[in-house]
Amino acid sequence: MTNLLRTYTCGALRGIDVGKAVVLNGWVNKVRNHGGISFIDVRDRYGITQVFAGDEDAALKETAAALKNEFCVVVEGEVRARPPAMVNNDMPTGAVEVVAKRLVILSRSETPPFQIDEAGNVREELRLKYRYLDLRSQAMQRRIKLRNDVTFAARAFLEAEGFLEIETPTFIKSTPEGARDYLVPSRLYPGQFYALPQSPQLYKQILMVAGFDKYFQIARCYRDEDARGDRQPEFTQIDIEMSFVGREQVLSLTERLMGHIFERALGVTLPTQFTRLTYEEALETYGTDKPDLRFGMTLRDFAPFVRKAEFRAFKEALDAGGAVKALVVKKDVMNAPNGGKEYSRKQIEELEAQAKIYKAAGMAWMKVNAAGILEGGVSKFFVEQQTAICAALDAGPGDLVLIVGGAKRKVVNTALGAVRTKLGHDLRLCDSAQFAFVWIIDFPLFEFNEEEGRWEAAHHMFSRPQEEFIASLEKDPGAVKGDLYDLVLNGCELASGSIRIHESDLQKRIFSIVGFDPENAEKRFGFLTEAFKYGAPPHGGIAPGLDRLVMLMAGETSIKEVIAFPKNSFAQSPMDECPGEVDAKQLRELHLAITGNPTGSK
Ligand code: AMO
Repeated sequence: MTNLLRTYTCGALRGIDVGKAVVLNGWVNKVRNHGGISFIDVRDRYGITQVFAGDEDAALKETAAALKNEFCVVVEGEVRARPPAMVNNDMPTGAVEVVAKRLVILSRSETPPFQIDEAGNVREELRLKYRYLDLRSQAMQRRIKLRNDVTFAARAFLEAEGFLEIETPTFIKSTPEGARDYLVPSRLYPGQFYALPQSPQLYKQILMVAGFDKYFQIARCYRDEDARGDRQPEFTQIDIEMSFVGREQVLSLTERLMGHIFERALGVTLPTQFTRLTYEEALETYGTDKPDLRFGMTLRDFAPFVRKAEFRAFKEALDAGGAVKALVVKKDVMNAPNGGKEYSRKQIEELEAQAKIYKAAGMAWMKVNAAGILEGGVSKFFVEQQTAICAALDAGPGDLVLIVGGAKRKVVNTALGAVRTKLGHDLRLCDSAQFAFVWIIDFPLFEFNEEEGRWEAAHHMFSRPQEEFIASLEKDPGAVKGDLYDLVLNGCELASGSIRIHESDLQKRIFSIVGFDPENAEKRFGFLTEAFKYGAPPHGGIAPGLDRLVMLMAGETSIKEVIAFPKNSFAQSPMDECPGEVDAKQLRELHLAITGNPTGSK
């Protein structure tokens, strides 16, 4: 064989290539043997080409017969047109096939534990153990390519806007930022540890002090927190910080960045400005600060009707300073896949169960019958007001009204919001090809941690209170609004950011409100407050999660689908079996000893 190196990829050949001598390299996707002749689908990341191996040449025939799925092969041959009846219009290369003159097996494969393009139906653990096979699937290759395109588009956009990409360390001082740190023991300083950054937050702020007014980094972040579909212990942010800006500049830059990424990577044009909701509006209207705006079904105030009705539980809720809220499920979206059916009692109970997960005592309901009359559930308490209720809620014949009341307004909103989210999924109102961005602004700066009985930062401790609250922060921390913003896409928190504090004194006051005494604050964050003493510029930034962004762009619900080598739900990598034990010598060098009976060790 003169040439083992490909002259074309497996996705390249078309009708105009008929007659060309070609060499292909790839993997056997499928072989079909028909009485001595073989059809071999050869695959690489560009596509699949059908190869025909005839039976005139004995060596060729023998090699073709020996081929199995996932063998890595060279095919040398000539392109010919397929007979009209054999043309496959579903394949870009479907008009042609390569008539093999020579086949070489570069490397054999054991029988794979799953068929490559059926990986979608395979247990996740198996996919992760044989990730290199899983990654051969066209679906994974498409998503990894999309990730590349998104990253590249982000870099190109930010570079053109004058941003510098600056790397910050991954061995840093442990500075609490919300989650638990991953720690790295120091050999040179026994008993001391580096931490892996939860984000480059402090370094990017210090870069602002250093005069790099437009910074970005495709940054790895590490957080020891429970895994979920949209969380990984290590993940990537498009981390951004800017000096001499206010909120509007950061929001506008992010809108243009998203516009550029979607245009480049998906060919989708986004609106030039995204909808905005205040935190309070989001909670009152959608019951969450991560609202999915792909569908309506908003939460409405039901309190006015409670006052005139004899329904004790709701009245008590209002008397206790709480709320009663309703949402209407329209007839035309109910049971949408089957078309316009009523919700059964059992389905309503499932929705109630959802409300209870979010601490609601229960969920009331009533239906509007064909004549426009309220019936079922709690309707008997509201008969006299039915016309007003239907008008206020925009409820018509066939619609279902769901109502939650309670003494705590936030619980009522959150519980009914969770019901709304479930309805959105159950009724398939969430089209993954639609992208509904919304900014959530004006978050409270502090949240009260009931368990620990103290205030903590809602975002992080470096976010700036809105100007009007600065003088009286300590008086009523719960009332302080921050210069904070989140970008939400299809009900998922895509990015968080804020305008920062750039004054040592203000920063120290925040540390003190969240419970760091001056000495402890100095020990942990002294380097930041020290830096702020040397002409720190006003600054702010944001960090979109790259994994979540690509996940949503790919229409997926787990970020593992867009990460080449993710961890499983137990923070392990089944392929290389990490985390793993280390040698006693390594532990000795680090002056570490394993004590007790650690769970998880073998
Ligand atoms: P925050 O902690 O909100 O802010 O994170 C910003 C974005 O990062 C993504 N993200 C995650 N993605 C995958 N797995 C995780 N475990 C995970 N945690 C967060 C989300 C989130 O919106 N330094 C600040 C940003 C700033 O203020 O500029 C920060 O890290 O998409």
